[in-house]
Amino acid sequence: MPNSPDIPCIPISGATTLVGIIGHPVAHSRSPQMHNAAFAHLGMNWAYVPFLVDPANLESAVNGLRDLNVRGFNVTIPHKQAVIAFLDELSPGAQAIGAVNTVVNDNGRLIGHNTDGIGFVRSLHDARRWNPKRSPGALILGAGGSARAVCDELLRVGVGGLRIANRTTQKAEELAAHLLVNHPHADIKVIDHTPLFHRAAINWAELIINTTSVGMKEGDPSPLDTNGVSPGHIVADLIYTPPETPLLKACKATNARTINGLGMLLYQGAEAFTLWTGKDAPVDVMKGVLA
Ligand code: ATR
Repeated sequence: MPNSPDIPCIPISGATTLVGIIGHPVAHSRSPQMHNAAFAHLGMNWAYVPFLVDPANLESAVNGLRDLNVRGFNVTIPHKQAVIAFLDELSPGAQAIGAVNTVVNDNGRLIGHNTDGIGFVRSLHDARRWNPKRSPGALILGAGGSARAVCDELLRVGVGGLRIANRTTQKAEELAAHLLVNHPHADIKVIDHTPLFHRAAINWAELIINTTSVGMKEGDPSPLDTNGVSPGHIVADLIYTPPETPLLKACKATNARTINGLGMLLYQGAEAFTLWTGKDAPVDVMKGVLA
């Protein structure tokens, strides 16, 4: 998106502190707009820039960012797991999740964090006044890096259990085994990725969450046969472009409560902002930019 007249620009100077995002692709990211608006709003001499990093160059890019003294960076597809090998330390949360979306550069020591799960749960509270302790459980579609973060945080805040369905069942089984290490008493089951098993899990779950990329591309189908989805369900899609995926559209038609990925984008960003700056993020300003 070109610079909008509504988004104030930061005058770069010799004293500007730099943060950014590494990804491949990265041009679609809305994080630069969101963070730069926050810096400008608070009058901070900081700037956030996108870095397109080929997976083959990940190590040298990470070392370069350390040596350039950037204060930190976000990490997106496909580097969230691979980046760990090039960091000096992980927060307990990132360790538990096994993926990193935020790195803090502490005087040359790169510390990996993961704010995705926290961001997702904050977005649920925000949008739906949701009470995890009263939630029987969640049906999770997908078993990649985002699913790891979301599942770990849901269990942490007290969701009753998880049913995980993934195109590649083995990856769902690996995710379930990984989660059980940190949540040994949790009710976690891998289910077949078929409408029959989906249906049983839909009847059991309160929350349904799509963490796959199905729905992002024009012409994509819904990743779930939505038969059985009812007004009692909350259906979340981590995708935010398009704002209404085929899954959300089908579920909205059943009067289920739906939520797209913009809230998670906002709150994972707000948490990262605080890790870098030590300040509370101006969430309303950041939300305004994403609207
Ligand atoms: P992220 O970090 O965003 O979670 P990822 O780790 O690459 O990205 O995970 C992508 C998820 O989307 C995986 O669960 C993947 O399924 P596989 O494990 O079978 O690869 C799922 N996914 C991607 N494309 C898909 C498709 N066309 N149909 C079904 N699932 C798909």
